[in-house]
Amino acid sequence: MENEQPPVTLPLDNIQGLIIRGYNMNKVRYFILHINKADAAKHFIGNFVGGVPTSSPQITTAAPWDKKPSYCLNIGFTFEGLKALELPEFSFQSFNSFRQGAPAQAKEIGDLGESAPEHWKGELGTPNVHVLLSLYAQDDDVLESQSTTLRSLFAQGEAVNELSHFDGNTFPDGKIHFGYKDGISQPTIEGGPQMPSDRQAIIPAYQFIVMNDDKRFYEIPTPHELGLYGSFVAFRVLEQDVAGFEKFLQDYADKIEPEKLAAKLCGRWRNGVPLALSPDADEPPDQTPISCNQLNDFDYSDDSKGLRCPIGSHIRRTNPRAAKVQGITSNHRLLRRGMPYGPPYNPNSPDDGIERGLLGMFICVSLENQFEFVMKNWVNKGDFAGLPSNNKDPLVGDNSSQSSEFNIPGELPQNSLKIQGFQQFIKTRGSAYCFLPSITALKYIAANGNNRQGSNPSC
Ligand code: HEM
Repeated sequence: MENEQPPVTLPLDNIQGLIIRGYNMNKVRYFILHINKADAAKHFIGNFVGGVPTSSPQITTAAPWDKKPSYCLNIGFTFEGLKALELPEFSFQSFNSFRQGAPAQAKEIGDLGESAPEHWKGELGTPNVHVLLSLYAQDDDVLESQSTTLRSLFAQGEAVNELSHFDGNTFPDGKIHFGYKDGISQPTIEGGPQMPSDRQAIIPAYQFIVMNDDKRFYEIPTPHELGLYGSFVAFRVLEQDVAGFEKFLQDYADKIEPEKLAAKLCGRWRNGVPLALSPDADEPPDQTPISCNQLNDFDYSDDSKGLRCPIGSHIRRTNPRAAKVQGITSNHRLLRRGMPYGPPYNPNSPDDGIERGLLGMFICVSLENQFEFVMKNWVNKGDFAGLPSNNKDPLVGDNSSQSSEFNIPGELPQNSLKIQGFQQFIKTRGSAYCFLPSITALKYIAANGNNRQGSNPSC
């Protein structure tokens, strides 16, 4: 056909791997680093992209694997971090939220009260945060041995200081705290890996990777060597009040079965089966079990009232699919990489005083148009899709027990259920907005070692 665009080919070996795929590793350690000395830091970065010594761990790219590695490594920089590298003039003109940084944007997305940056851990609320180095490993031995290697590189030439680190572990069956299976729904990226059919639009690659596409809505950061084929991430440390959540489910047990309430809040049963396909039980009683490939094959076009999946549930708010809401739904998709932190919740000692939660990476090209849009307009907006004004996302919204409300519609008004007075189940314990440069960009950073002129960003 005339005018048909050629299919996009992504330069996979020039794109950081975690943008394109989840690694399915058992362990993660996120190092939060401060750049001490620009030149030494550039040398440090060069190590990861074929620098000397070559025995240094290398950045994992999106190129396909012959054999799954025992660890993966990725790197991101805050805007303060890029400034600290004393690069020649650069500009991230179209990326205001990235330039402002997560602490400055906190209010916008509902990080208030105990979730405010002054309470964040590991210096995440301060401008000292420059680098987010993510080490994923198959097991503890690999995690520790690679951490030792990395820490010796931090010290070389006093390149960087470790401000803090955050460790995560997978749980059996891909579950996270609160007991839900996670990591089921991800956008399909044009030119990226094939995903099972999900009745949703394939998302143009320029919405996840900085690319020179006619339809892109941003200026490519300059110099292009630095900006092209990069992406952005909102790193989030989210504490989960598991005891509070489980108690809340039980408190309503005389009105709704606790497992059903858990499903209505999320939009999926805790085993991952979507309410859209199986509203009454976590496996449809009259059919063969729903296969992994079908777990994401639905939309809400035949459930406009939310009788199966409540309009205010977590997955319907964060990805309304074909439903009519503020915004064009396919413009605000997010890639998610997450791992629990802290030990599994033990119902026999609910008040163990141990912090647990989720280390989440929300990847997109535009933090304002994707991550923040979802948080502001869908998660924390009361009147989302015509709901009453005090309804917010029941799982992750900034709810307060004075005003919170969640509606479970029924066919008849007397069958509807209004849940009120529940607390906020998730608190933000830290966040960082980072740029995930391409391999070319990392080499560019490493090569601009001695240029101390014009180091101010132009924007
Ligand atoms: C500790 C906090 C969180 C928990 C426990 C949680 C839990 C879940 C669960 C159980 C699912 C269903 C699994 C799946 O579809 O893959 C899910 C999906 C999702 N969550 Fe969260 N989530 C959390 C935070 C967030 C935040 C802060 C955002 C918003 C930016 C978010 C955005 C999404 C999106 C976009 C989906 C996929 C929806 C879909 O495509 O159907 N989540 N989450």
